[in-house]
Amino acid sequence: MFTPQVYDSWQDVQWEKYDEFLRIMGRDFFSSILEKRVLDIGSGSGYLERFLVSKEFDVKNVVSLDIRKDFMKKVDKETLVIGDAKFLPFKNGRFDAVVSVDTMHLVKDTDFARVLKPGGLALLSVFFSHGVYEERRNLLRSLLTDFQIIFEFEIHGKEKEYVILARKTN
Ligand SMILES: C[S@@+](CC[C@H](N)C(=O)[O-])C[C@H]1O[C@@H](n2cnc3c(N)ncnc32)[C@H](O)[C@@H]1O
Repeated sequence: MFTPQVYDSWQDVQWEKYDEFLRIMGRDFFSSILEKRVLDIGSGSGYLERFLVSKEFDVKNVVSLDIRKDFMKKVDKETLVIGDAKFLPFKNGRFDAVVSVDTMHLVKDTDFARVLKPGGLALLSVFFSHGVYEERRNLLRSLLTDFQIIFEFEIHGKEKEYVILARKTN
């Protein structure tokens, strides 16, 4: 059964992915987006935020949103929001960047684009196995019709990950 306890054992798998994000996209990229307003959709228990803190990034501008309260643990900040990614409780254009790791295959919705300001960045990723690679990649791309794709890459670690960075065009 998928419980918060089971999910906790998954931390090293997720941290390996974030290490690759950092290696490939660079520290300067993360520093620059974290200076502005960032929404983490499907933040789970806050693995990404804790990883960033462990790498000495400041996450005070990150709002972490998840639909399940029981997954959410305090990180080094107060900004945790319980909400549905399909009906985000934020005004249009509220965020400069949206990050979502391993969640959009569950959400399958573009409300994240509404809360991004024009020119804002979306960093989306999904895990995949061989059988669902095309399906997962096409799903993420289909959510980004109002975006210009900047960069895509794959991670082949303990779990395979498809990652896409795109900029909202209007
Ligand atoms: C596989 S976990 C990924 C967690 C985290 N992003 C990470 O990197 O480990 C997927 C998360 O998406 C959340 N989720 C699923 N559907 C959602 C929705 N409609 N709105 C918000 N969060 C959702 C789940 O509760 C879960 O915490």
